Amino acid sequence: SNWVNIAIDGPAGAGKSTVAKLVSEKLSFLYIDTGAMYRALTLAVLKSKTNPSSETDVSELLNHSHIQLIVDQEGSRVLLNDEDVTLDIRSSEVNQLVSLVSSYQAVREEMVKRQRQLAGTTNSVLDGRDIGTYVLPYANLKVFLTAAVSERARRRHQEQIAKGMPSDLEQLKVDIAKRDELDSTRAIAPLKKAEDAVEIDTTALTIPEVVQAITELAKERT
Ligand code: C5P
Repeated sequence: SNWVNIAIDGPAGAGKSTVAKLVSEKLSFLYIDTGAMYRALTLAVLKSKTNPSSETDVSELLNHSHIQLIVDQEGSRVLLNDEDVTLDIRSSEVNQLVSLVSSYQAVREEMVKRQRQLAGTTNSVLDGRDIGTYVLPYANLKVFLTAAVSERARRRHQEQIAKGMPSDLEQLKVDIAKRDELDSTRAIAPLKKAEDAVEIDTTALTIPEVVQAITELAKERT
């Protein structure tokens, strides 16, 4: 298509969503947070008491779930069946279940279909785990963001506290390491750097530095 797509992948807490959102604002692109989609489905599983071990039940639930990513003056919000779940999808319960829910083939097929539809209608920045390797193999720019686990846990911790949410640093470290392990070893579209992705280790970089680097790469490629 004629639309420009930027893929930002990497492990939990590498700064993908913060950076992707800022890059999208700078370039006036749509920001598509694919992790938020998997999180919203996971919240739906918890709320409806769907058996998370049943691929059929979870994918059936997805087919009846309306998930919207809204970006406007009020910031970015996530709606599940028209209800604002922006904060709820960041809970520790969701963190612990999301990798299982997103490991199912039927779930991924439907999510990827929705993501390609969104990316196919406008210039966009997508962040996730499999955007460069699977969702958008022809993305104009692919970035793989990484950082040390301890640094990633520290960032999530500060994020939670800033939002007034409860947070436990040690629990975050365990959750993040566990999620990386599950996301990297799953059979379908695991977390992996695409061969043609530019890797940026953000451990010692500030957010504006990372945003600047990606924006420059984007301008070179488009
Ligand atoms: O990016 P975020 O940490 O919010 O993603 C939450 C979870 O959703 C990941 O740990 C992963 O299990 C799943 N996910 C995925 N594929 C994506 C984005 C997220 O499997 N493209």
